[in-house]
Amino acid sequence: AKLLIINGPNLNMLGTREPEVYGHETLNDIHTSCTLKAESFGHQLDFMQSNAEVELIEKIQQSRGIVDFIVINPAAFTHTSVAIRDALSAIDVPFIEVHLSNVHAREAFRHHSYFSDLARGVICGLGSQGYLYAIESAHKFLTDQ
Ligand code: DQA
Repeated sequence: AKLLIINGPNLNMLGTREPEVYGHETLNDIHTSCTLKAESFGHQLDFMQSNAEVELIEKIQQSRGIVDFIVINPAAFTHTSVAIRDALSAIDVPFIEVHLSNVHAREAFRHHSYFSDLARGVICGLGSQGYLYAIESAHKFLTDQ
């Protein structure tokens, strides 16, 4: 099956960005481990990051009818973007929301997500492992279907 992992703004700075919050791994490290995990299940993985809301929305729109499952870390757009939420609603592809940090242990403005009620599940606070758990869960969902 086809899996798509979408990363929002500032995640291109992982590794050097507040490592005490987000860890030392780079986005490239996460890309590599996600690709290995997806391939171990026989899935194809497309992995992208953008700092621009429009690019994230266009990627989501283009995945309608093509992608079987999405894993998304919307980053700061988690807490602001009705437009990305609406794009995910429009395409009707199941998705899991992932955050590296435990957003609930942080500032109050990070406690609300525009995505969680639409997501099949939400993983937060487990660092980059969260992406791998999401791929495992996507695999189970796709094979149980
Ligand atoms: C994040 C949490 C968000 O609150 C923050 O804006 C991010 C990253 C995470 O992965 O922990 O950029 O989504």
